[in-house]
Amino acid sequence: MPLLSAPALKGRFAQFSISAILLLAAFWFILPSLDALPLALPSLHFSSQSHSHPTKTTGLPPKPNHPIDHLITRANEEVEGLLAKEATTLSAAAAAYRQRRGRQPPPHFDAWFAFAQNHSALIVEDFWDQIYHDLRPFWGVPARQIREQANDYVHRISVRNGNTTQRTDIERREWMDLWQDMVQSVAQWLPDVDLAINEMDESRVVVPWEDIDACMATERASRKLVPEAELKTEFGDLKALDQTPPANFDPGFDGAGPYWPLAVVGCPPESLARSAYIETDFTTPPPISSDHPKGSYEGYVQNWTLAKSPCDNAHLQGLHGTFVEPISISTTKKLFPLFGGSKLPMNNEILLPPAMYWTTNPFYSGGNEHGQPWEEKKDGLIWRGAASGGRNKEENWRRFQRHRFVSMINATSVKLAETGKQKPQNFVLPSNASYDLATHNSSKPGALSDWISTWSDAAFVHLLCFPPANPCPYTDPYFSVAKPMQMKDQYAYKYLPDIDGNSFSGRYRGFLGSTSLPIKATIYDEWHDSRLVPWKHFVPMTNEFADIYGIMEYFLGNAEMGLGGHEDAAKGIAMEGKLWAERVLRREDMQVYVFRLLLEYARLCDDERERMGWREDG
Ligand SMILES: *[C@@H]1O[C@H](CO)[C@@H](O)[C@H](O)[C@H]1NC(C)=O
Ligand SMILES: *[C@@H]1O[C@H](CO)[C@@H](O)[C@H](O)[C@H]1NC(C)=O
Ligand SMILES: *[C@@H]1O[C@H](CO)[C@@H](O)[C@H](O)[C@H]1NC(C)=O
Ligand SMILES: *[C@@H]1O[C@H](CO)[C@@H](O)[C@H](O)[C@H]1NC(C)=O
Ligand SMILES: *[C@@H]1O[C@H](CO)[C@@H](O)[C@H](O)[C@H]1NC(C)=O
Repeated sequence: MPLLSAPALKGRFAQFSISAILLLAAFWFILPSLDALPLALPSLHFSSQSHSHPTKTTGLPPKPNHPIDHLITRANEEVEGLLAKEATTLSAAAAAYRQRRGRQPPPHFDAWFAFAQNHSALIVEDFWDQIYHDLRPFWGVPARQIREQANDYVHRISVRNGNTTQRTDIERREWMDLWQDMVQSVAQWLPDVDLAINEMDESRVVVPWEDIDACMATERASRKLVPEAELKTEFGDLKALDQTPPANFDPGFDGAGPYWPLAVVGCPPESLARSAYIETDFTTPPPISSDHPKGSYEGYVQNWTLAKSPCDNAHLQGLHGTFVEPISISTTKKLFPLFGGSKLPMNNEILLPPAMYWTTNPFYSGGNEHGQPWEEKKDGLIWRGAASGGRNKEENWRRFQRHRFVSMINATSVKLAETGKQKPQNFVLPSNASYDLATHNSSKPGALSDWISTWSDAAFVHLLCFPPANPCPYTDPYFSVAKPMQMKDQYAYKYLPDIDGNSFSGRYRGFLGSTSLPIKATIYDEWHDSRLVPWKHFVPMTNEFADIYGIMEYFLGNAEMGLGGHEDAAKGIAMEGKLWAERVLRREDMQVYVFRLLLEYARLCDDERERMGWREDG
C-alpha cells in the first residue's frame, strides 16, 4: 500500500490499519534524533549463568539431546567463525574484499574503511553479502541505462557534490525524508548518484529468473582483479546527465494479480514453485501437514534461507497474505535500479536499511526502553498487532499468517479442536509423531491447550475486516480484540513472536535490541540478514508455525508433565541478540552499509566500471 500518498490514503482509509494510523500520527511529533547508543562492550561469549528466580519447571529434568540443543551449538560455532574473520586494518579488509568478491574494492574504499573504523563498526566482509546479492545482476545492464533510469524515476534521492536532494510527487514524505536523512549522513564522502526509491510498502520488481541468470553470467565474466596500475581510482560526475532533459522511462508497473504467478517467474526453473499447482480457492482450511517442515532439523529451522523461501516452499502461496490477497500490487518484470527497505527472495530491488529502522519514533523503535531484567519478566509470550498481511475477507482469512498464529496459540481455540468440539478453522493440531510434545503423553483430554493457557497471550488489536465492519461478521466468532500495547510494555514478557504484516515487520530491530527473546517467522529479506545468526541472536520459526509448541516447550518445559525447560538458553539468546544489536545493528552500522552500498552502486553506474577500483599502493 502506498503509505505515502495522500489521495490513496483517503481512498483506502476505511481499510487502513490502526497501526498505520498510529504510525502516521506518531510522525507528527518525530523526536529529535537519538544519538548513537553507547557502544556496549559485548562479552560475545555471554553466558547466562546468573541466578534466575526459580520458574515453575526449574529443577525438573529437561528432555535430553533435544534437537534445539544441537542447533544452538551449531549457531555458536557459526558466530565464532564470523568473528574470526574480523578485519582490523584497511589492508586486511581489502584482502577479504578481493577474496570474497573477486574484484578490486571500489574507489574510496579507504574512506569507507575509515568511516567504519571511526564508528567502531565490526568489519566482517560477509556482513555486506546482501549488497552483492542485490547489485550483481546490474553488471548485465549497461551503466548508462542504470544511471538514466534512476535519474528519470519520479521518486528519487540524489547526491551531488556531497549533498542530497529529493524529488517525489507524493504528499506524505516520511519514508523519503528518513531515507534522505540516512544518505545525507554519509553524503560528504559519496560520489554523485541517483537512487530511484520504492514509495510503496510492497516490493515491486520481479525479473524472470532466466534473465537474471544471463545477467549473472555477464557479471561472472567481467569479474577480475584489475592490476593496480591500470585502475581508474576516481568516480566521474553526473554533469552530462544533469544537462540532458529527462527521458521518459516507464518501469511498466502493472496492478493485475494474483501475485503468486507474477512472483514465481523469479524462482529457479527446478524449484517447486515453478511447477506447483496454482491455488485460487482460499476458502478451504490451509494446506498444512503436521509433518516436520521441509528441510528442517527434526522439525526446527536449520536453514533460515530455505525456511523463508517461497520458491522452496510452494505451499506458502496459500499460507501468506502476500500471495493470498495483498492490499495492492504494482509490479514490473523490468530490471531497473529500484531501492527499497525489504523484498521477497524472488524480488530484484536493491535493499537499504528500512526507513522504519532509521526513525526514532518509539512506535517502531520501541524507544529508549529495552525492557526490565529477564528475571523480572513474565514467563510467557505476548503478541499484539492488527489482522494485516493483506486484505482479509470472509472467503480467504483462513489463509492469513497472523490469523493462523493467533489461533494456534489461543488456548480456547486449541481446546475446541483437541476435544473435537470444533474443527480448527485455520490450522492443524500437531500429530503425536511430529514433535514428541510432553502433552501427547498425557491421557488428559485438553492437555495441550491447558499448557498453552499457562504461557500464551496473543490477540489482534484490529480485525481489519473487508468490507469494513465492526464487529467483523466473519472473524468475530474466532478472535477477540484487545487494546494496543506499546512495545516497551510488551518487553514485560520473555517471549516476543514477530510475524509479517503487509510486508516485513518494522518492530524487529526493536525486539532484537530488547531484553526479551524474539521468535521470528518471515518471507522477507532485509539488509541485516547476513549479520544475524538464527538460534544465536533470535529464534527462527517456520511460516507454518508447526514448530511453535516445540519451541515453547523447549524453553519453558511443562511443569504439569514433569518436564523441565531451558530458561538459561532463552535468556542467553535474548541477551546475545541484544548485545549483537548494539554492536552490528546501530544507526552507525546502517550508515556503514549505505556508504558501502552507494560506492558499489556508483561504480556500476560508471561507463568505466570494469577498470575502476581503489589502489592500495597509493
Ligand atoms: C575518521 O577519523 C579521523 C580522525 O578523527 C578523521 O580525520 C577522518 O576524517 C575520519 N574519516 C571518516 C571517513 O570518518
Ligand atoms: C550542502 O548544502 C548545504 C546547504 O545548502 C551547505 O551549507 C553545505 O556546505 C553543502 N555541503 C557540501 C559538502 O557541499
Ligand atoms: C539453504 O537453503 C538454500 C535455499 O534453498 C540453499 O541454496 C542453500 O544451499 C542451503 N544451505 C545449506 C547450508 O544447506
Ligand atoms: C513420551 O513417551 C514416549 C514413550 O514412553 C517417550 O519415548 C517420550 O520420550 C515421551 N516424551 C516426552 C516429551 O515425555
Ligand atoms: C480465542 O478463540 C476463541 C474461540 O474461537 C474466541 O472466542 C476468542 O475470541 C479467541 N481469543 C482471542 C484473543 O482472539
